[in-house]
Amino acid sequence: MADKKDILCFRNIGQLVQADASTQPGIRLRKNCALLVKDGRILKILKESDVQSTRSYARVVDCQGRAVVPGFVDCHTHLIHAGERKDEMVERMSGASYMEVLENGGGILSTVQATRRATENELYDTARKRMKRMIALGTTAFEIKSGYGLNLQSEMKILTVGKKLRASLKVPVTLTYLGAHAVPQGDDREEYLEEVIENLPRFLGLADGVDIFCERDVFTAADLRRLFLQAKLLGFDLRAHVEEFSHQGGCLEAARLGALSCDHLEYALPMDIKAMRAAGTTAVLMPGVTLFLGGEKHPLVHSMLDAGVTLALATDCNPGSSPTYNMQTVLTLAASMYRLTPEQALAAGTYGSAKALGEEKEYGGLLPKQRADFNVLKTSDYRDMFYYFGENFVDATYLAGKKFKPPRDPATT
Ligand code: NIG
Ligand code: FE
Repeated sequence: MADKKDILCFRNIGQLVQADASTQPGIRLRKNCALLVKDGRILKILKESDVQSTRSYARVVDCQGRAVVPGFVDCHTHLIHAGERKDEMVERMSGASYMEVLENGGGILSTVQATRRATENELYDTARKRMKRMIALGTTAFEIKSGYGLNLQSEMKILTVGKKLRASLKVPVTLTYLGAHAVPQGDDREEYLEEVIENLPRFLGLADGVDIFCERDVFTAADLRRLFLQAKLLGFDLRAHVEEFSHQGGCLEAARLGALSCDHLEYALPMDIKAMRAAGTTAVLMPGVTLFLGGEKHPLVHSMLDAGVTLALATDCNPGSSPTYNMQTVLTLAASMYRLTPEQALAAGTYGSAKALGEEKEYGGLLPKQRADFNVLKTSDYRDMFYYFGENFVDATYLAGKKFKPPRDPATT
């Protein structure tokens, strides 16, 4: 056993939740226990009665009977962007659809204009504020996409900001090149896609994965295939926005090409679920988008579960379809809208989301040897988060065993 003097001891944990895929429904609940952390990683969990004298540990934190849950993993965000789209929100409330706004040159394309104009420092400062707000709400690992540059220089600017954020906040950040997020205004779709594909090698070392928005009037399933074949050859992970507002066949193509995740999936069909299962592709669900856009269509969540597809949850944090930072809200929505139990929703937002990033061994479960990323809640029963919905139940977030100092103000830009 390691020298106890290097060990942090979190004791008097009333309820400790681990996300462990080898159990059903993926959650292991322990009562009255303590958590030992060494070098930023989970060393072991022990019974409260086995905790030794305070002097035996470098530091002891008394959790006062509260619940401890794994840090949330937000595996799909667009958090590096400039500007807001409140006017568009009002337009939609007056009857315009999300896709109509985009077709009229607004939507994603208006954020593209603002993001192109912003300097690297401006993007860094606003994104950093957002991430700190998200960590304070319990998120301890992130995926961030580009996709608001839509030209080589601006896409690189966004991902460079992502790299700097990863270094400065010292949290796990997976970066994704989403050059194929929309067709820039006035461009020809095929020519633009060709440019995105030609530029792929320039993103090696800057992005871990490649993504595409496959949708009617945006990119086709054949476009996805062309992009992914090349991205795969170069060693990028594949993830895709598919079957969100209509069924286009992108999910099937993405899964067959070995995508790590397929995201959205409101219009995914049983054959898509079968293909995801066969390929071990994780289904990333984002109920915050449905709530915010006032949609009624939900993915076939229970068919996915029955088929053995791993579910993940994410905010999709972006200024158009889901301006939220809060994974607690997303978990609550998933439970209520999709009829997931609190266990299933929590497993999806921790283990499942880590798996969507290929990082399920490294974090997400609060399991021995994993990063010590966790939340001490304000309550002794983690189900309160689902029941008294809308409250912030995170009392303290720990990143690699270190307490995070929350920002005072909400990030509203
Ligand atoms: O994941 N669906 C496309 N892209 C984003 C929205 C981006 C935006 O509206 O700015 C999404 O929902
Ligand atoms: Fe998205």
